[in-house]
Amino acid sequence: MLRRPRRNRQSAAVRALVQETHLTTGHLVQPIFLVDGQNIKKEVSSLPGTYRLSADNALKEVESCLELGIQSFIMFPAVEESLKDKEATYGYHPDNFYLKAAAALKKEFPEICLISDVAMDPYSSDGHDGLVKDGEILNDESLPILSKMAVAQAEAGFDIIGPSDMMDGRVEDIRYHLDENGFTKVGIMSYTAKYASAFYGPFRDALDSAPKAGDKKTYQMNPANKTEALIEAELDTMEGADFLMVKPALNYLDIIHLLKQEHELPIAAYHVSGECAMLLAAAEKGWLDFNQAMPETLLSIRRAGADVIITYFAKAFATLKS
Ligand code: PBG
Repeated sequence: MLRRPRRNRQSAAVRALVQETHLTTGHLVQPIFLVDGQNIKKEVSSLPGTYRLSADNALKEVESCLELGIQSFIMFPAVEESLKDKEATYGYHPDNFYLKAAAALKKEFPEICLISDVAMDPYSSDGHDGLVKDGEILNDESLPILSKMAVAQAEAGFDIIGPSDMMDGRVEDIRYHLDENGFTKVGIMSYTAKYASAFYGPFRDALDSAPKAGDKKTYQMNPANKTEALIEAELDTMEGADFLMVKPALNYLDIIHLLKQEHELPIAAYHVSGECAMLLAAAEKGWLDFNQAMPETLLSIRRAGADVIITYFAKAFATLKS
């Protein structure tokens, strides 16, 4: 035999020489679920190890992640029902605890990269990402609300705005309003190919943000579609996005691969709550070894083409490697 691929696998040293894909803490983004109040740390029951934190505890969490080499965070608010309304006005209210916490985090740790969430669902009494009228999720009428949220987030100090709402034209509208208000340096990580997935369950538990009626299929993408992701990616690129995101990650590795091949912008993959929960559940049952399955999972998302991985396991990965 002339060709013996096993020669390049014979020792750890040789394997290190030929390793094609690398994953470091620099590629990872740690999500933070924020609640109003003080000294709150409440575990999300469907996502063990992930907590809803008050701002004081979020500061501590960021500090411990920084010590482990995690420098980027994406933050989501869990809003009390009484503050929700049809127009999601609390999303850009000056008293909004999420905006205040972002300002506090950036003041304490100016070096971090803090990513926001733009969508109406955490603040909407309908639990939808856009404005609901007679059961329909309106597109153009939602844009001014989303852009107001984005500008308020930029004012609070977020480095990157993360529109997760899937309304058409929102990246362009947000880019325009950010620039108009002087936030030319604030980036946009667009949820480009966000699918109407069953894997967002634990996230909706964490935020109490499930739709009150209907589903999200008129704005999130059909899991059966691939070419459509190319249309979304082209639009987001033209509209001024700085990152293109694919979400979820694992069932959509082909989409990550495709966008990486076809586009120049960095690709982010969101390893969503349900995907993390599956692994945790199997590990809890003793059916999988978490410390082996978790890094293999994250590495496979990188290998598919993701430059950035948003995962609830960022801190666990960093801990394992430290
Ligand atoms: C909502 C939003 C969702 C997630 C991020 N932003 C849920 C949804 O669209 O219903 C899900 C993330 C996860 O499951 O980890 N705009």
